[in-house]
Amino acid sequence: MSDNKTHRITLIPGDGIGPEVTQAVLRILEGTGARFEWERYLAGAEAFEIHGEYIPAALYESIARNRVALKGPVTTPIGGGFKSINVTLRKKFDLFANFRPVRALPGLDSKWPGVDLIIVRENTEGEYVGLEHEVVPGVVESIKVISEKGSTRIARFAFDYARKHGRKKIHSIHKANIMKLSDGLFLRCARNVAEEFPDIQYGEHLIDNTCMQLVMNPFQYDTLLLENLYGDIVSDLCAGLVGGLGLVPGANLGTECAIFEAVHGSAPDIAGKNLANPTALLQSAILMLRHLDEIAAADRVQAALEKVYTARQSLTRDVGGSAGTSEFADAVLAAMS
Ligand code: NAI
Repeated sequence: MSDNKTHRITLIPGDGIGPEVTQAVLRILEGTGARFEWERYLAGAEAFEIHGEYIPAALYESIARNRVALKGPVTTPIGGGFKSINVTLRKKFDLFANFRPVRALPGLDSKWPGVDLIIVRENTEGEYVGLEHEVVPGVVESIKVISEKGSTRIARFAFDYARKHGRKKIHSIHKANIMKLSDGLFLRCARNVAEEFPDIQYGEHLIDNTCMQLVMNPFQYDTLLLENLYGDIVSDLCAGLVGGLGLVPGANLGTECAIFEAVHGSAPDIAGKNLANPTALLQSAILMLRHLDEIAAADRVQAALEKVYTARQSLTRDVGGSAGTSEFADAVLAAMS
């Protein structure tokens, strides 16, 4: 544990189920003994109503200063409206690595008990650069950007992580049979980096086949390396393998800053009903604790979480229980004491 230092963290509760799951996670974090000072900000439509900006300047400054943020989901309008807050923040702070560990929790009736996958998604390029325009009425062009620099650094991140954490195998997931230049470059960069890591097995699969293989037998994979859009889709698919979006954590990592957030969105269908599962954000907070070198606190929350799942009591509705968001948080807190 880092000699009881107070960590100043930027907090974006988000909207939809964001404030509920954030509240639950903050209560649990307060119970770890680690000390935090939260700088809380709105983002998205709510921020615009109050500050006239979707991302207030003070929020940018806070992340730049603190270098660590915990973030709930923020709604992005579909087919128009403002640009995704998530994509904007990732780009602004060059958070090039989207790291999503997908692990089956004990005691859960998931489709694939024992799944333990690492998803490494490139977070700043691909189709998400947002370069779209109408060429002529009825024809729209959307540009996908893949660079040697971006592809090499995400491949190196994946291999470094694998070596450091004893992972054995990395698959690059692509569609280079069709997107020969862009996905071809991504693959070439990954192959070059793979040569520096002879201790890690390296393979390549087409994205469409990968989706089928994951559903049929996820155990053939260990770490998946993907471009932005493929990573976005495949990480939701993998969440489905282990019990759903309420469970899977994420971290957006750059060389300067890190933003920890769940894989899921704002879930408007269950927002405000005390139904959301805070596990995904809690597991993101555990990743944050490890990043802050609060290892004992991280282990404590992890153990309590696994205890609650193993007991199969106080679980939320999405994983077959009947507890609310706050009752689940109570159970994790009780398991910590
Ligand atoms: P979603 O992830 O919000 O919901 C998909 C399904 O999963 C829904 O049935 C929802 O009830 C369920 N679900 C999600 N999180 C859950 C949780 N913690 N506990 C229990 N059930 C949960 O995806 P959707 O509906 O496609 O997107 C809604 C909004 O969220 C959109 O505006 C989208 O742009 C935004 N979004 C934001 C993200 C972020 O802030 N990082 C990431 C993904 C989507």
